[in-house]
Amino acid sequence: MNHFHYKDDDLYCEDVPLARIAEEVGTPAYVYSHATLSRHLRVFQDALAGLDALVCFSVKASSNLALLRLLFSGGAGADIVSGGELHRVLAAGCDPQKIVFSGVGKTAPEMRRALEAGILAFNVESEGELDLLSRVARELGRRAPTSIRVNPDVDPETHPYIATGLRESKFGIPASEARALYQKAAALPGIDVVGLDCHIGSQLTNTAPFRDAIEKLVTLVRDLERDGIELEHLDIGGGLGIPYGRDEEAPPPTPGEYGEAIKRALGPLASKRIICEPGRVIAGNAGVLLSTVLYRKRAQSKEFVVVDAAMNDLLRPALYEAFHPVWPLRRRGGERIRADVVGPVCETGDFLAREREISPLETGDRMAVGAAGAYGFSMASNYNSRPKPAEILVKGPRYAVVRHRESLADLTRGEAIPDFLGDAD
Ligand code: LLP
Repeated sequence: MNHFHYKDDDLYCEDVPLARIAEEVGTPAYVYSHATLSRHLRVFQDALAGLDALVCFSVKASSNLALLRLLFSGGAGADIVSGGELHRVLAAGCDPQKIVFSGVGKTAPEMRRALEAGILAFNVESEGELDLLSRVARELGRRAPTSIRVNPDVDPETHPYIATGLRESKFGIPASEARALYQKAAALPGIDVVGLDCHIGSQLTNTAPFRDAIEKLVTLVRDLERDGIELEHLDIGGGLGIPYGRDEEAPPPTPGEYGEAIKRALGPLASKRIICEPGRVIAGNAGVLLSTVLYRKRAQSKEFVVVDAAMNDLLRPALYEAFHPVWPLRRRGGERIRADVVGPVCETGDFLAREREISPLETGDRMAVGAAGAYGFSMASNYNSRPKPAEILVKGPRYAVVRHRESLADLTRGEAIPDFLGDAD
């Protein structure tokens, strides 16, 4: 459930008409619903009731400080993958003891900063990383709380770019090698073994792969116990899918169904501390991207709606051929059209919707691309020297700009023309 809905013929976010925001802040702009974000977090937390669970929001999904603050105030921790995300979550007030640090390419300075902050756990993805982490921790006179990310080799049945738990993916340690690496970790002077981690992919629409992965982890935890290694927690990653509004799509499991499946698969390990790293299911349907129609254009038999948002603002359709719903901010009658909704970027792949049946949109009309709250702004770029859009948070009848639209000066900040290039003329 989310808080974007039509009142009469106008699309609202909570109690604010989106056309008003488009008018006052301009487009393109991301708009997030406070009520939806807090509800999604609460529903997810409730789904894990009965477990000693910590929900660490996967910051890569949506990393605006205001959104993070809202989620941390609701009790969430953070799953981070870079020093930049560490900076963000600390700035947003996250309790360091609720931060887990994932990712295959952590650098020594990133490890140092995370150790100094006192995070809950590093999710280590290779032997080389384990060695470096031990060394960095010793240099600081500390021990690094460590989980090893295990690749359980299950097929998450999702888009190949976002499947991570298959044998051939770059993520984690093969389950067959994990025991040996745990032995090594337990003996390293800078390492405290605290947990086991796993993340198999994103936008999963079925509980079976989660169950299969957890069952493999349970076996491994048992083996480790036999080896004398006791773990404090099990991190089962993120990955629960969301509905994107496509007619033919099978609905993904609800958080409640996911929670039940997890609890069943954990069996006797359900008494351990469980960490989850959801991203999309919390933020995805809590945000939309607003844009304005620039032109209607016809080429041969094809109809195009050219809008002022593009692949640099929302990359998912171009990168994964992802489906996002398109909603006019003001519904009006008239015959529906079948069109590609495209942006101004110079790439044929620059589309937000393809061959989509939509209500008629004319120059100057506003529209929203739905389900854009996760991996929307966080994957935005300045390609084609387009300033990144504004971000807005709505709460009831109020809204606030939580990130200003980038200016032209922002685009060239940090660039320099060296003396040896001389004057332009
Ligand atoms: N934990 C780890 C270690 C991850 O790599 C990810 C996502 C998550 C948690 C959160 O997964 P979620 O609950 O959001 O599915 N850009 C892609 C998604 C990439 C996901 C990367 N990892 C997209 O737009 O679909």
